[in-house]
Amino acid sequence: MGFVIAVDGPAASGKGTLAARLAALLDFPVLDTGLLYRAVAVRLLAAGGDLDDAEAAGAAARALDLTELDHAEVRTRAAGEAASRVAVHPGVRAALFDLQQNFARQEPGAVLDGRDIGTVICPDAPAKIFVTAAPEVRADRRWRQLTSQGETVAYDDVLADIRKRDERDSGRAAAPLAQADDAVLLDTSKLTIEQAFDAARRIVETARARSGNLPG
Ligand code: C5P
Repeated sequence: MGFVIAVDGPAASGKGTLAARLAALLDFPVLDTGLLYRAVAVRLLAAGGDLDDAEAAGAAARALDLTELDHAEVRTRAAGEAASRVAVHPGVRAALFDLQQNFARQEPGAVLDGRDIGTVICPDAPAKIFVTAAPEVRADRRWRQLTSQGETVAYDDVLADIRKRDERDSGRAAAPLAQADDAVLLDTSKLTIEQAFDAARRIVETARARSGNLPG
């Protein structure tokens, strides 16, 4: 196993941006695992399936083709909401398990961001960051992002989505959103992207020094 950096946290906490920047800094591949669940939901809905149908959702996850992650559709607000509904099914999570673990196994290392990377997918990851921010701050960031993508949506609706998703992701039985015991908490509510990245970089440097995996 290479040097795995697990970045978990709730919707719109900034974990995706931080994961991508850490990966660029270290020249590691990065996997946004939320895209997997989003693509499963999009695939299921396109086939006329029901998001609450565990059987059909599991089949959609097993049939997933990774090129589907590149479709613009998976980045919409509706896909995020639908993703959190298919993500509750253990069969969906099981179908995506090996793919994520294999990605993590790349040398010299990899960055994965999601909800259960540090707890379920890579419990032995030497570097774990749990990124969070106040719901209002996350809603504001998500609203700006969706608006820049051309979606027309009210801030209050985005905030309501975020609260509902937090509840569903934290309350589910299968791999709920939770901070791993050995993850470092990074609250980005009052940080700029630069400040948050600086803090994440320091967390990773500390973990690298501790694990004897030094850059160079
Ligand atoms: O991170 P993103 O908002 O794109 O994730 C969409 C949904 O996918 C989340 O709300 C969550 O329910 C699910 N997910 C998950 N496990 C992951 C990544 C995402 O359950 N590792």
